[in-house]
Amino acid sequence: MLLQEPLETFTICEANWNDFNDILNLLNAVDNEFVPSLTESENLRVKITRILNDRQRGWIKAVDADMVVGGVAVIYNYRRPQLGLIETLAVLPEFRRQGIGIRLVQFAMSKLFQNGMDASLITTWETNKAALAMYEKLGFKTIMRSKVDGSYFKLFFMRSFEEPPRSQTRFSRFWNRR
Ligand SMILES: CC(C)(COP(=O)(O)OP(=O)(O)OC[C@H]1O[C@@H](n2cnc3c(N)ncnc32)[C@H](O)[C@@H]1OP(=O)(O)O)[C@@H](O)C(=O)NCCC(=O)NCCS
Repeated sequence: MLLQEPLETFTICEANWNDFNDILNLLNAVDNEFVPSLTESENLRVKITRILNDRQRGWIKAVDADMVVGGVAVIYNYRRPQLGLIETLAVLPEFRRQGIGIRLVQFAMSKLFQNGMDASLITTWETNKAALAMYEKLGFKTIMRSKVDGSYFKLFFMRSFEEPPRSQTRFSRFWNRR
């Protein structure tokens, strides 16, 4: 009987300009899995550059044997001070269901917390069963559901880093004011 969990072979850390092409390959590989596709809203090179250039944003990567197999972006002070956003979470299809996605989000949450954020926001489309299950496991609570372009529902989740967590009403008021 196996008494210990298998050792992880991947590492999670912050990415930098040296990782530009690897992140581009990753995003190209998963582009059409996003709803809407990533390229529908922005050129991928522009997106990666925008995040690498901004002190309020950053990429995090998962590396397995020198290969970038997953990534996620964080935004500090997103729309209000001390609110973090976790976005563009992706793991290469052949590396899924090994705990890489969840470790990426956990790492992102710890970066946000270490940098003074008091809560994190994360979103996905309503039919994304994998992301929904993962966010629930990580303690994110649904705070809003909104229809985008009359075509699909986007769900917003929040995870507070403080006790007691901020109320939905307060967040919704803030969000609706934008
Ligand atoms: C979502 C995604 C990042 C998950 O990455 P992953 O490395 O496979 O996820 P993990 O192995 O860490 O899974 C963590 C948990 O998430 C849930 N989960 C992951 N994939 C799932 C799936 N296909 N179906 C149902 N639940 C799933 C499970 O609860 C899982 O825990 P378990 O394996 O112990 O059951 C990956 O499927 C992906 O890149 N999808 C395309 C892009 C995307 O949807 N991004 C997120 C929206 S922004």
